Amino acid sequence: MERKSTLDRMLVLEMVRVTEAAAIAASKWCGLGREKEADHAAVESMRTAFNRLHIDGTVVIGEGERDEAPMLFIGEKVGLGGPAVDIALDPLEGTGLTARFAPDSMAVLAIAEEGKLLNAPDVYMDKIAIGGGYPDALVDLDKSPTENVMALAKAKGVTPQDITVCVLDRVRHEKLIGELRNIGARIKLIPDGDIAGIIATTDPETGVDMYMGEGGAPEGVLAAAALNCVGGQMQGRLVFRNDDERSRAQRWGITDLNRKYALHDLASGDTIFAATGVTDGSMLKGVFRSRTGWRTDSLVMRASTRTVRHVRTDHLLEDPPRS
Ligand code: FBP
Repeated sequence: MERKSTLDRMLVLEMVRVTEAAAIAASKWCGLGREKEADHAAVESMRTAFNRLHIDGTVVIGEGERDEAPMLFIGEKVGLGGPAVDIALDPLEGTGLTARFAPDSMAVLAIAEEGKLLNAPDVYMDKIAIGGGYPDALVDLDKSPTENVMALAKAKGVTPQDITVCVLDRVRHEKLIGELRNIGARIKLIPDGDIAGIIATTDPETGVDMYMGEGGAPEGVLAAAALNCVGGQMQGRLVFRNDDERSRAQRWGITDLNRKYALHDLASGDTIFAATGVTDGSMLKGVFRSRTGWRTDSLVMRASTRTVRHVRTDHLLEDPPRS
């Protein structure tokens, strides 16, 4: 499928600057047990970085609704003016991980042309994802975990014991985990951070074949933006715990609350996805602070060109200490 290039290619590097700024700010709070402060630092830095760019950006996935988030709220306009882009962001994916200095926290964002990212409310989403190179619709949210693992094992020419499924370590996943154990599939339980968990399915080196389970819907859109760049299959369905969440979705213009979203209903067109590690993780190294500055590790992907760039940056202090 040929993809039209509609986003300015210069934005690729600009997006890395934005996630780098957020990651460096958050890293100052690593291991201090202060989730809110870490998150606030990342949000503030990401917003400042966005506001230096020549874009007409609209936050469609952000820190929450205007009345609950003072910065980077949904609908907030960022940038100095320029091409119109929709933005999905998570300045600190894994606030708890950062506070505990645990692996896999990162600063994340995606941009797309207007209207190409699902404006998902902040509720849970049931998700399933596999990497690229398999027949279309190989896995499906409407099938059982057993059927999905069997289908993937058959397509790979292996047994279910050779399939590794990444799942968030949550009580709500007890039944899912039980079923996966029954068929002998391997489970990689992660404490947080399902964006990285989903992206892992696209990289054979991670050993993760499939992602399953409920995580944040905004994180689902961000992960879909990444898969829209590098390939892979994903489906998501919103999960509502109460009427408040249902009416939140309806305010967002979602009429079919049971809809099963395909990857391209979540993110489509010429998206750019960028992430910078805060703590060391399976996908990215964390921010490294030395006497002379900070070193960051990022990746940035673009859908139209199908490129994945790994960017290591040294941010040197102007006046490093001499003694
Ligand atoms: P935060 O960045 O808000 O800490 O989210 C981390 C995360 O693990 C996401 O990756 C995931 O989608 C979501 O939380 C799962 O939510 P919950 O912790 O409520 O199960």
